[in-house]
Amino acid sequence: MEFSTAARILMCPADYFGIEYEINPWMNMQQGTNRQLARRQWQRLYQTLCDLGAAIDLLEPVPGLPDLVFTANAGLVFHDVFLPARFRFGVRQGESPHFGKWARDRGFTLVPLPESMKFEGAGDALFCGDTLFAGYRFRSDVRSHHWVGERLGVPALPLELVDPRFYHLDTCFCPVAPGVAIYYPGAFDEYGRSVLKDRIDRLVEVSAEEAVSFSCNAVVVGRSIVLNQGAPKLAAALETLGFNVRPLEFSEFIKSGGSAKCLTLRIDGEEAASWRHAGQIPSC
Ligand code: ARG
Repeated sequence: MEFSTAARILMCPADYFGIEYEINPWMNMQQGTNRQLARRQWQRLYQTLCDLGAAIDLLEPVPGLPDLVFTANAGLVFHDVFLPARFRFGVRQGESPHFGKWARDRGFTLVPLPESMKFEGAGDALFCGDTLFAGYRFRSDVRSHHWVGERLGVPALPLELVDPRFYHLDTCFCPVAPGVAIYYPGAFDEYGRSVLKDRIDRLVEVSAEEAVSFSCNAVVVGRSIVLNQGAPKLAAALETLGFNVRPLEFSEFIKSGGSAKCLTLRIDGEEAASWRHAGQIPSC
């Protein structure tokens, strides 16, 4: 597979997105979502990422799989290796063959985790520098992160998530560059907070008020950061660090427990992942 400097991202159009079950505290079938508005919000994200120079792969949406739109959960990408998710809930397990086919067609080598382990891909495992920061409890198992770290030969730091509203790591933590990340302290226990402070040079703290609007769930392309609108304090902190912040509206996806970042999977390595910047592809 070829490697270029342009960001490459997997997305899946929101044609069949909706609230058809409840597997996190944000989802409410009675309340539902506005499908037209969701499509418009998805389209704005797609257009914004294209304008930032990203090349977007599109996965065909599938009726009956309303959460296929959240491609961050497809799996974890590491060089030419793809570790497919093992979803905790049966309602999302039907997504796996579609993500798997995409990864195979794209030329990735698939490395499946043992069946007994739950692992929700880039939703719960994010590189910052050389280290894989890994959230567990609500979706992924801590064992899965040990397995992934060992298999990839990278240091993996499991972090327990303690607030069910922040059930995936990408809802409360976002690496933006090697050594720089944003996080919401309330989603972690004391130990997790100390690990993050110890391992990341510049940790930008997000307030509880801004964290509930999913502002940690950001997409980073170069020095630009796309996130949900309504987080002026975080936006100002990121601008001070030299990033361009692009707030967009994600109200319909937040009703499903997701926002900007969940709607994307970075195929060529996140900006904050050191391996993206190292030319060589190790064999796994
Ligand atoms: N409704 C989806 C679920 O609960 C939302 C997934 C959000 N994805 C993420 N990477 N945080 O599984």
